[in-house]
Amino acid sequence: MSTNKLARGVALVGAGMSNFGAFKGKSSRDLFVEAFVEMLASVDKPFDPKMIEALYVGNYSSDLFEGQGHVAPIMASWVGLTPIPAVRVEDACASAGVALREGILAVASGLYDIVLVGGVEKMTDLATEKVTDTLATAADSQYEIPAGFTFPGFYAAMSTSYMAAYGATPEIFKKVGIKNHENGSKNEKAQFGAKISTLMEARKNSAAKKGLPIPEWKDELDFLNDDRANPIIAWPMRLYDCSPVSDGAAVVLLVSEELASKFSDHPIFVAGTGQASDGALHDREVLNSIPSARVAAQKAYEMAGITPKDVDFAEVHDCFTIAEIIATEDLGFFEKGQGWKAAEAGETSREGKKPINLSGGLKSKGHPVGASGVGQVVEVWKQLRGQAGDRQLPGKPRYGLTHNVGGTGQTCVVHIFERRD
Ligand code: COA
Repeated sequence: MSTNKLARGVALVGAGMSNFGAFKGKSSRDLFVEAFVEMLASVDKPFDPKMIEALYVGNYSSDLFEGQGHVAPIMASWVGLTPIPAVRVEDACASAGVALREGILAVASGLYDIVLVGGVEKMTDLATEKVTDTLATAADSQYEIPAGFTFPGFYAAMSTSYMAAYGATPEIFKKVGIKNHENGSKNEKAQFGAKISTLMEARKNSAAKKGLPIPEWKDELDFLNDDRANPIIAWPMRLYDCSPVSDGAAVVLLVSEELASKFSDHPIFVAGTGQASDGALHDREVLNSIPSARVAAQKAYEMAGITPKDVDFAEVHDCFTIAEIIATEDLGFFEKGQGWKAAEAGETSREGKKPINLSGGLKSKGHPVGASGVGQVVEVWKQLRGQAGDRQLPGKPRYGLTHNVGGTGQTCVVHIFERRD
């Protein structure tokens, strides 16, 4: 009978990521190498990378983004790991989170002791229209795409459903964006690592330099309400409600629990993992919650033996600002319909009861889709080890959670990590 427990414990002993952004002239393999090199430097004790026994790589669509399929052996070769088994995992924007789960299961099974897990995506070689078409292949191409849906459109539909059910207004989405840009302004790896107020001032200065009328925005919300500064993409989702088109890579090193102290002075342990699937959005009873996230979270909490109250902070999949609010409810941090009120009250800010997306989230840090799930784990690794610099959460956080969604929730994978020292 299944116990929903790992057959043996698994620890994280290294983590690294490339900068996230738009990098002309760099391919996914260059970015993967950057992440790998940073991961090597993060391992506390000397180790020979040749000890790594297998590689799992999340990647959504290098085939369409870069004209390169079959990326896992390429990544293995570029970081000098061939001939180990190299496996590509594709589950849309949850590719890296699912790759991580596969890596965890491989170590927990006893098949391997030392596994590298990564995620990589290079999206910016294509024009936005082509990126939109490529992302749309993660939806239902028979029933949704012919109806005219794109990903901003899906999340717009989720937003209007949420607003109608719970009385939220578009203002709250803007506030989530302001909060995540504020967090991202402390993250040197973020694609849009600036506060909205800084971006607003830059726009004013640019107008002044060009001798154009200087816009008179009172504050950040006023700026975000201006259709020219913050155009509507799919109402009520505007530019600053959307994660950007990004390039980037992230990797983590997993080992069996008994080996952890040989690699690290402060390993981080996998306390729980949960994954679930669902049909496409058009076929769901509700649009303002992601059922697979609820199931995945429940499994992860059960395995960790904790409740949502015990989680000190979380990196959630805010591909659009509405997604963050829904995530905080699906993860059980707030009651259904209360997430927007909690965000309004500042409970998800750095200083709040449940800090969400201290890294800046997908919104500000960037969303190289096949890399994001492991990018989230890099932040949790840093926060739990007290190495997050200016954005470090005070005190000694014990539990950090990651929530990685594929598509509109056809896949969701949740991980809980624990600091034990
Ligand atoms: N947030 C904030 N600013 C952004 C941004 C974002 N998401 N995307 C682009 N910008 C800025 C650019 O820096 C640029 O600023 P500048 O004029 O000062 O140089 C300006 O907005 C226009 O950039 P551009 O790249 O031309 O934007 P675009 O219109 O081609 O793309 C979106 C904007 C929102 C359509 C695009 O980012 C997008 O499709 N995002 C969603 C991606 C997605 O669906 N991911 C999967 C989720 S499930």
